Formats: sequence, C-alpha cells, structure tokens
Amino acid sequence: MPEPQNNPWSSTPSLDIEKTFADFGIDPIKSVLADLPSVPYFMRRNIVVGHRDYRPIASAIRNHTPFHILTGFMPSGHPHLGHLMVMKEVVWHVQQGGNGYVTIADREAHAVRDLSWEKCREYGREYLACLYALGFEGTTYFQSKNERLKDLAFEAAMKVNFSDLSAIYGFSPETDIAHADSVITQVADILYPQIDREPAPTLVPVGVDQDPHIRLTRGVAHKMRMFTVEERDGYISVRSKNAPEAALEAVKKAFPHAKKYEGHVDIRDAQCVDVSAKVREIERAHGGYAFYTPSSTYHIFMPGLTGGKMSSSVPESIISFYEPEAVVRKKVMSGITGGRVTLEEQKRLGGEPDKCSLYLLNLFHMVTDDAELAEIRRKCTGGEITCGQCKKETAERVVTFLKDFKEKMDAASDRIEV
Ligand code: TRP
Ligand code: SF4
Repeated sequence: MPEPQNNPWSSTPSLDIEKTFADFGIDPIKSVLADLPSVPYFMRRNIVVGHRDYRPIASAIRNHTPFHILTGFMPSGHPHLGHLMVMKEVVWHVQQGGNGYVTIADREAHAVRDLSWEKCREYGREYLACLYALGFEGTTYFQSKNERLKDLAFEAAMKVNFSDLSAIYGFSPETDIAHADSVITQVADILYPQIDREPAPTLVPVGVDQDPHIRLTRGVAHKMRMFTVEERDGYISVRSKNAPEAALEAVKKAFPHAKKYEGHVDIRDAQCVDVSAKVREIERAHGGYAFYTPSSTYHIFMPGLTGGKMSSSVPESIISFYEPEAVVRKKVMSGITGGRVTLEEQKRLGGEPDKCSLYLLNLFHMVTDDAELAEIRRKCTGGEITCGQCKKETAERVVTFLKDFKEKMDAASDRIEV
C-alpha cells in the first residue's frame, strides 16, 4: 500500500514546514510582498509564511479586478483562538476587494469525526458568529445544505479516482466512501465561487496541513478546463482537451492570425493574457467552467498554551470564546513560557520569546502595534521583565480582547440564518 504523503485529519500533524515547502513547491510569502499595495501584519510578522500562485491575487488587489477569497471550517468543536488567523486573512482580503466565501464543512465533520448534524449546526453557527465579529462580509454556507455545491462535487469526482486518493491521502480499500465524498466536497468548495459568480483568481488561506486538498483541487480545476493555453516560441498554442469542435472553431475565428489544426489552434501576433481571456469567454459560452487554478497561502499554527498544537482535544491548550474570565486568566498564567529556570538566569540570559506560547499569542493576536510588540521582545530577551509580570500583562490583554470580541459575536448572531 502506498505511504500516505500527508494526512490532514491527524490530530497531531508533525509537519516540517520547510521540508513541505521544498517538496511540494510552496513559495515563501516574502517573494510577493512587494506586489501588494499594503502588507497586512500577518504577512509582515511571518505568520503567513508561504503561498502557491499568490501573484494573480496581488495583481487583482492592485488593479481592482475581481477575485474570490474562500476558506472553510470543519465544525468538530467550539471555535477557539487558534481559528482566528485564517478568519482574519479572509476578512483582510475582503477589505481589499475580494468576494468573500466561507464554507462550514459539516459533511466532513459528520463523515470523518462522526459528529451529529445537530452538533455540526451548533458549532458551525459559532464559527460564523466569530467571522462576522471580525467584520466578514460575503457568502457563507453549510456544505450539506448547498445543492449546487453537491452537483459540482459530483462533476469534480469524475476527475478523481481511487488511486489518486490513496496516493494523496493514503486511503485504503477500507476507507469509507463518505470520507472520500467529504474530500471531493472540499474540492467543490474551493471551486464554488467561480460557478456562483464568475471565473476569477481564488485565494484559499489555510494551514499547511490542508495542502493536499489544495494540490488535488488545482489538478481538478485544470482537468475540468476545455482548453489549455500555452506560450510557445513566437506563437500561442490553444489546445483542446475535450472542447466541442464549435468551441475550437470559435477560438480560431476570434483571432485574425490564427491557424486551426487537429485539436489545437496556433495564434500569432497576440498577447497571451488576451488569448487566455478570450478562450475563457469562449469556453463559458460553450458550457465549460473556465476555472482559474486556485491560489493558496499557508500560515503557521499558533502553539497551544501547553506547548503543542492548540486543539480542542486538549482543553488546557486552547482559549475558547466561551470560557469564564477566571478560567482564561488561569490558563494564561499556567501557559508554557520561554523563561529560564531561575530568576537570576532570566536576568542574565533573558527569555526566549520564540519558544514562548504567550509571546506567540501576543504576536498572533493580542498586540497589534508593531512597536509595542518589539518592546515586549526587547524586555524579554534583555531579561528586563519576569515571566510572571509578562504573563499578567498578557492575561489582561486576552481578557480585554475576549470581552470585546464576545460582544461583537453576540451582536452578529442575528446575521446567521442557518
Ligand atoms: N478540511 C478543512 C478543515 O479540516 C475544512 C474545509 C472544508 C476547507 N472546505 C474547505 C478549508 C475549503 C479550506 C477551503 O479545517
Ligand atoms: Fe514569554 Fe514574557 Fe517570559 Fe519572555 S518574558 S519568555 S515573552 S512570558
């Protein structure tokens, strides 16, 4: 049986980011920052570290052309602070002009986590309240309630076979079909904005554990096209994959310097972008999808207060939006720090912020001002502050943040229809 390359459903994904990047062709986010009119803090602080094909998104932001921004949440438990990053990425891109989409992956939670539909609905609504509290505008849906999504999933399923699934996820003959169905539903999620609105570049911000789904979807998006457009030496080649003859003929007619052959049209004296746009138009007019291959960004995970991943299965590791203030304080005060064993050592050597769950909590969410964060770091590494004091200040920030956030969540509750 083939070795699983990755398992997005593992509760402790041990993923070496650098290695994943190098192996699978994820580019460092630094390479695109210069293309953005303004750089959001999560990219500046290297929380969002990598991307696939972000350039079309940056260019859509710069030129005010259409693009979509979509992500999804599996409602397997209450949302917590660990889910906020991806939500903020979505909200920021909506503010930059993107069409926002958020899917609640209740099919996945039901199939893979065996969660009842009632629980999926309850948790799903909480995720949506968080999103609206952060200022999200756009379309949201539950997978199980979206008929067009399910139809798209069925079409997409024609392009994926069992050996693809076992190669990508390590699925075996014992894997149940609903699990496979939840995968193809996620593929459909990612393509959905392009059928709901129009074909356009689509950004999917995710944690690096979701990359197998991104790779699969990029492949499927390509396979569902009628044509490929390639720049060759001195001409542009438009190849038909499964286009009707009339569509190929329309491509030829659209350009004065075009020659039609068996299964392809070669075009001279034209720009590749113009040919691509025209071919998409023709593809759509002949009933095709004309999908853009989706883009993605990858963020690192905020560590849990107990050291490992923030995960609902370890209650002490998370801060949820539904805990009493005293519990929150207690959790923060007992969080793992990068402090030294003795006070003397702390003063002499300073703390290690990069190993400190509380520093990272500040870096991710609690301290939005860069100068203030730099000051915390300076005091920590210079041994000027004790962890006790630093924790107290952090707890104060978290409590204030949660209070405000809860109010916003409550205010958003009437926006949730499902
Ligand atoms: N599989 C994702 C998770 O476990 C949830 C998800 C479903 C998703 N559809 C999506 C994520 C589309 C990004 C895009 O959290
Ligand atoms: Fe963490 Fe603060 Fe201690 Fe530094 S001083 S290790 S940031 S708790």
